[in-house]
Amino acid sequence: MTDSASTTKLSIVGAGSVGSSLAYASLIRGSANTIALYDVNTAKVDAEVLDLGHGSQYMRESQIIGGSDISCVAGSDIVIITAGARQKPGQSRLDLAGTNVDILGSLMPQLLEQAPNAIFMLVTNPCDVLTTAALKISGLPRNRVLSSGTVLDTSRLRWLVGRKIGISPRSVHAMMVGEHGDTEFALWSSATIGQAPLQEWTDESGISVFDQAVLDALEEEVMTSAYKVIQGKGATNYAIGVAGARIVEAILGDQKAVLPVSTLLNDYHGISDIALSVPSVVGRQGVERTLDFPMNEIEEAKLHKSADALLAVQTSLGI
Ligand code: LAC
Repeated sequence: MTDSASTTKLSIVGAGSVGSSLAYASLIRGSANTIALYDVNTAKVDAEVLDLGHGSQYMRESQIIGGSDISCVAGSDIVIITAGARQKPGQSRLDLAGTNVDILGSLMPQLLEQAPNAIFMLVTNPCDVLTTAALKISGLPRNRVLSSGTVLDTSRLRWLVGRKIGISPRSVHAMMVGEHGDTEFALWSSATIGQAPLQEWTDESGISVFDQAVLDALEEEVMTSAYKVIQGKGATNYAIGVAGARIVEAILGDQKAVLPVSTLLNDYHGISDIALSVPSVVGRQGVERTLDFPMNEIEEAKLHKSADALLAVQTSLGI
């Protein structure tokens, strides 16, 4: 692991639209000193590295390297895995589990050999199940393997709520938690706008804005966002790119940021050995601890529904 004085290296496995967007976002934000992009497709990854490098003078002082030789990820502080099959229109993330667990099984040992001290972040879906699989395959401690989880969905939620009331998404303190998928849900009971409880927000005429029907519609719109984007353009990439870069900065900057990353739970509201997104403290050691947010009965039930959905897939795959 690097200390704050030395340089930092982020490696991204997979130079598809998600991996390349993650590299692009990290370069523009200056998330790491060196960003390596790896893919088995030599022509693709070499072209992506060239294209990213050509814009260097307009980006932060980060170096872009990469190629189809896995040694390009050597010595990484963080390795983000985006390689694998991606959702086709109408396909759920859980449908990808079997194929992508197999790909992870061959990738993980090679990556560990090149970057034995790295924090690993899964973006490939189903990212929660793959987080658990990566932990089992690698034998790493639970803090060092996480996934972007519902950090992206939380960004979607905050954008939709902010757009509805004309408030910056940065002032919308609400989180999507649970599975990064069809059983995710919003922690409405603890959501605030600035310091004001979200559910007490009123419009100029004093009428409540967020009644249950509105809350349910917003939650559904977030949960179905990826399907809508995939239907229209074949994949999502920009938002996951910046969401991933944000998590990288929390780790490399030892920020102790509270983010809903997906992590293997240990008796969290009675849930163990399932990776789910819950509010977690993210710093240089990865997921340093989970935070026990108050949940009402409905939210508690939704969290367990998420866990049950993932357990069923893990059990079917013997994870
Ligand atoms: C999405 C993909 C990253 O939600 O799962 O856009």
